[in-house]
Amino acid sequence: MLVAEKTIVEVDNLTFRYDLRKDDHTLSAISISIKQGEWVAIVGGNGSGKSTLVRLLAGLLKAERGTITIDGVRLNDETKWDIRKKIGLVFQNPENQFIGTTVQDDIAFGLENNNISYDEMKQTVDEALKLVGMDSYRNQDPSRLSGGQKQRVAIAGILAFKPNVIMLDEALVMLDPRSRIQLLSTLKKLREQNDITIISVTHDMNEAALADRIIVMDNGTIIQDGIPEQIFINNDQLSPPFAEQLRRKLAEKGSAVPQSYMTEDEMVDWLCR
Ligand SMILES: Nc1ncnc2c1ncn2[C@@H]1O[C@H](COP(=O)(O)OP(=O)(O)OP(=O)(O)O)[C@@H](O)[C@H]1O
Ligand SMILES: [Mg+2]
Repeated sequence: MLVAEKTIVEVDNLTFRYDLRKDDHTLSAISISIKQGEWVAIVGGNGSGKSTLVRLLAGLLKAERGTITIDGVRLNDETKWDIRKKIGLVFQNPENQFIGTTVQDDIAFGLENNNISYDEMKQTVDEALKLVGMDSYRNQDPSRLSGGQKQRVAIAGILAFKPNVIMLDEALVMLDPRSRIQLLSTLKKLREQNDITIISVTHDMNEAALADRIIVMDNGTIIQDGIPEQIFINNDQLSPPFAEQLRRKLAEKGSAVPQSYMTEDEMVDWLCR
């Protein structure tokens, strides 16, 4: 495991509601501890509170009770600006997030305020665009890109900042399957090389299965938190990733397939044995 022992995100007994006049809470007593370098997928049905949790972690909403600590600093009105510098946030819809008239200007814009030299900036922008496979679009007008291309540029803009934590809220939904796989492997590499922590909200169980850990939310609470294998074996509500579905079907047909959960790599090895 690459995961360091340092805790980067600590959520303790977090409770939140949008409307203080109403009694029912959107999130109730959420506690999570995430280590630096960990990749955590957050899954759960529509309205279970995943996006609300992400907004709270980024300091965009204020907790009613409980605490959030990011990299050792307690999140509050005074610290939220500094904390936000450590967090890269990507949402599902990249529209209207662009300021620059070219893709490279757009990414550079955010960096200009960061006091770095022109050469360093150019290199950072180039690297970030390469990571998302958009370097050949650097001189294009971002508003004219396709939805998936815009999303890749938005992700490059986040990567250029070199955040400690990247939070993706269904950020890969728009991407074609090939770009999605490429981007997931880019994120995986970044995590291995730079110890970046990834928190990714997703409805795609193949994507969730790649994480170190899956948190399952339901009705504003965490109902499961564990490694993908445990989650998919113990939850009939979630449709398991493809390799595990295949394993179960083979088992039904009386094949001598292993009795325990299999990842895609394990299934490939078994089939090619
Ligand atoms: N701005 C808001 N004002 C009031 N209620 C809201 C607001 N945003 C979300 N909610 C409510 O809070 C609950 C949780 O919503 P949230 O967006 O966090 O769910 P989610 O798990 O991200 O769902 P999805 O999978 O559909 O994105 C829902 O009942 C939703 O209706
Ligand atoms: Mg959501």
